[in-house]
Amino acid sequence: MVKHTATSVVTIERFIIEQERNFPQATGQLSGILQDIALAGKLITNKVRRAGLVDILGALESENVQGEIQQKLDVFANETIVKAMDHGGRLCAMASEEEPEIIPIPDQFKCGNYVLCFDPLDGSSNIDVNVPVGTIFSVMRKITRGVHGELEDVLQPGRRQVAAGYIIYGSSTMMVYTTGHGVHGFTLDPSIGEFLLSHPDIKIPRRGRYLSVNDSYEQYWDEPVKALMRRYRGLDGQQKAMNVRYVGSLVADFHRNLLGGGVFAYPANTQSPRGKLRMLYECNPLAFIVQQAGGAATDGINDILDVIPTELHQRSPLFIGSADDIETAKDMLAKRVA
Ligand code: AHG
Ligand code: MN
Ligand code: MN
Repeated sequence: MVKHTATSVVTIERFIIEQERNFPQATGQLSGILQDIALAGKLITNKVRRAGLVDILGALESENVQGEIQQKLDVFANETIVKAMDHGGRLCAMASEEEPEIIPIPDQFKCGNYVLCFDPLDGSSNIDVNVPVGTIFSVMRKITRGVHGELEDVLQPGRRQVAAGYIIYGSSTMMVYTTGHGVHGFTLDPSIGEFLLSHPDIKIPRRGRYLSVNDSYEQYWDEPVKALMRRYRGLDGQQKAMNVRYVGSLVADFHRNLLGGGVFAYPANTQSPRGKLRMLYECNPLAFIVQQAGGAATDGINDILDVIPTELHQRSPLFIGSADDIETAKDMLAKRVA
């Protein structure tokens, strides 16, 4: 296996191909999917970077399936990904946070063996105030027998993912992904338009520095969640206080905690009894990445990767991050079911 350090100049395309060579049975389909996503990320970056310059901000009239106002860039990002991915002959269907049903591959294109689930623009309500946003994706193998993908192909537990990643449009643009062989990060060099390997084999510290949670919902949390947050803040005297950092863009909060160690929590509350974040587009892909980096993710009862989704837009509570901190969450939240 070729070992790269952060000082070797390696493009994402070359890295993907080198990784594929380690698996002689690989057909190249998955590599093609990752390369197409990287391309979509570059196109979306371009638009996001100019968001403040052109008259593109503000909400469209339409509401998306989650009942939230869509931003124009959400629509652009969604269309860009669909158009970058639908003709490659590698996918049999897609599912997007922004679309009510699964997205079929148009008849004129060949169908492949994989499904792609994605959140085209995560944190989009932050665009107007110039806060980082991101794209999150998850790839699974098709399990049904027909040529076209079906809902069943998409509703698989996260443990069956073969690749997952995100692109963060922050102070620089980065793509971070895993195919189940570690987590690797690439930074876009805008002058040459290439993602270059900058963070090989990312590992999340076992214990974290940061706590990311929106505690304006505290009054709606149950007692075990309140006690857990007190623990993380060092208020019950059991551990050192974590630093609270909350951007409000899941990708940005997750990325910081992945590198620095920490927990992102979006618990269920009485206002949103199933939490807010979506299983297929947010929880599953980030759970696969964090697991590959040595961390963990739970919904408070089950490992996120074990949950079998039953609905396309299913929501889930999420506690994700450093292994020891998630162990604390599991212990303290188990008191609810005991
Ligand atoms: P999206 O923009 O894709 O709808 O996701 C928004 C999500 C996520 O990015 C963030 O962590 C969370 O919403 C913030 O929610 P609160 O404002 O309720 O804290
Ligand atoms: Mn999102
Ligand atoms: Mn979104």
